[in-house]
Amino acid sequence: MLKTKDILDEKDKRLHTVSKEVEFPLTQKDKELIDTMIEYLHDSQIDELSEKYNLRPGMGLSAIQLGVAKRFFVVVYELSNPEDEEKEFETYILINPKMISNSVEQIYVEEGEGCLSVNRPVEGIVPRYARVTFEAYDMEGRKIHVRAREDLAICFQHELDHLNGILFTDHIDPKNPFKGKDQMRGI
Ligand code: NI
Repeated sequence: MLKTKDILDEKDKRLHTVSKEVEFPLTQKDKELIDTMIEYLHDSQIDELSEKYNLRPGMGLSAIQLGVAKRFFVVVYELSNPEDEEKEFETYILINPKMISNSVEQIYVEEGEGCLSVNRPVEGIVPRYARVTFEAYDMEGRKIHVRAREDLAICFQHELDHLNGILFTDHIDPKNPFKGKDQMRGI
């Protein structure tokens, strides 16, 4: 199973490479990697498992964070409410993703974005679109369209950045980390 230490840290230059398009059919290795990534994200969001295996919680991972420069990412998004007995998740696998439309409205994460490759607190806001539509391919190579809003939309944009070698910290001006805050909505 994948452990937190297997995820590349921001100091690793590979995180700044532009990943390459994936060819279909997927290789067995690609399929296994996708399964491992989903398992990590799922388990990391279940308290008992994240404690047991010491997994830092996260909802999105891109292949490049595991050193594989291929254009795909996975997101395991929690759907349940805090009072639900068992957590429920929706899993997204986006291969060769493109953002094909976006809202005019921009938002940012008030407490700051997080990333499994960034192991330090980072102040500042990252402007993201509030609503987006992505075109991508599923594991069988079929074209899919996915719409996302709010935190899920932010996650998709964050992961797409990874495929282009961009970390969320690259969007923050260290001299003025809260630049443009008044023009956006915090979530
Ligand atoms: Ni990240």
